[in-house]
Amino acid sequence: MTQPTLHQTVGTPFTRIYAVGAARGDLVVPNDDIVGPIDSSDEWIRQRTGVITRRRASDGIEAVDLATSAVTEAISKAGIDPSQVGVVIAATISNTVQTPSLAALVAERVGATPAAAYDISAACAGFCYGIAQADAMIRAGVAQYVVVVGAEKLSDFAKPDDRTISFLLGDGAGAVVVGPATEPGISPTVWGSDGSKWDAVGMDRTIKEHWENPEEGHPYLRQDGQTVFRWAVWEMAKVAQRALDEAGITSADLAAFIPHQANMRIINEFAKQLNVPESVVIARDIETTGNTSAASIPLAMHRVLEEHPELSGGYALTIGFGAGLVFAAQIVRLP
Ligand SMILES: CC(C)(COP(=O)(O)OP(=O)(O)OC[C@H]1O[C@@H](n2cnc3c(N)ncnc32)[C@H](O)[C@@H]1OP(=O)(O)O)[C@@H](O)C(=O)NCCC(=O)NCCS
Repeated sequence: MTQPTLHQTVGTPFTRIYAVGAARGDLVVPNDDIVGPIDSSDEWIRQRTGVITRRRASDGIEAVDLATSAVTEAISKAGIDPSQVGVVIAATISNTVQTPSLAALVAERVGATPAAAYDISAACAGFCYGIAQADAMIRAGVAQYVVVVGAEKLSDFAKPDDRTISFLLGDGAGAVVVGPATEPGISPTVWGSDGSKWDAVGMDRTIKEHWENPEEGHPYLRQDGQTVFRWAVWEMAKVAQRALDEAGITSADLAAFIPHQANMRIINEFAKQLNVPESVVIARDIETTGNTSAASIPLAMHRVLEEHPELSGGYALTIGFGAGLVFAAQIVRLP
């Protein structure tokens, strides 16, 4: 029997980021407001993490609300109609429910229905994972425009008396529109995972354990800070260097370096190991936003472009890393 040949899509050879949108929590929370229950100090948090204030969202504002604002801005700046969005990818670890997805609600709210919509759970690497997927989908002809949004309300998972991670966490969302381009705008993604360190950062217990002892509150985030710190400093600078190598550029060719905003000491260590020249703008959004996991890179990118509009069109090295452990790095042309 002869079969008809299947149709298979082929897309465009190149992709780029068209625009970035951002939304931060409405509250500015200084270190002094949170140090009491963790027996810490403003000085300790500033010195060890670089965080001076973090942005958190009021009660009643959820990650999906922040995501909707960020995506609305990105689509409007991209100059496309929401109906042209083929896929909405939301990177998040703090949706209010395990299912349904945050992405489907965002797609509906911004007028992108019936776009395909789903969430990815890759923690602080989630945004870069999303960019890798968007780039591949557009080049494969699966969609013409893909929205990638990192959205978190981590304050809901910050246990007030937790000394390991609570003081780092902030709330926000950052979104981009990815679409076809006439020249390369997103380099190959260097990504991976190391499940042998599955316990290094994540929730402090399972949902089932919570049912058994509900008086302890819902599961919260916790980490083995030193394990994550050492892994980030030793392994992630190598991943970032591989991303530069695969893109065929050096750190001297960058306009901006936009790493995950985990800790200022990690950012400074990366810059040193990668020989990032002084002419390159280094994102330091952690100072006033805190660590917003999947939202941190697009939020930092938005701020870099606001403060340095002249960098538009230049190359930015992005690298996300966190719970899993997972990581992803790529070079993007700034919109
Ligand atoms: C969490 C982190 C800031 C802690 O900093 P650190 O320098 O590793 O701190 P340590 O755990 O070595 O502790 C150093 C000292 O501070 C104390 N300390 C720990 N947590 C503290 C806190 N919240 N406040 C005040 N003191 C604290 C410790 O007791 C220790 O005191 P000692 O020297 O008297 O024994 C750091 O490890 C980190 O940023 N890790 C990676 C974060 C990250 O990227 N996470 C990824 C998920 S996004």
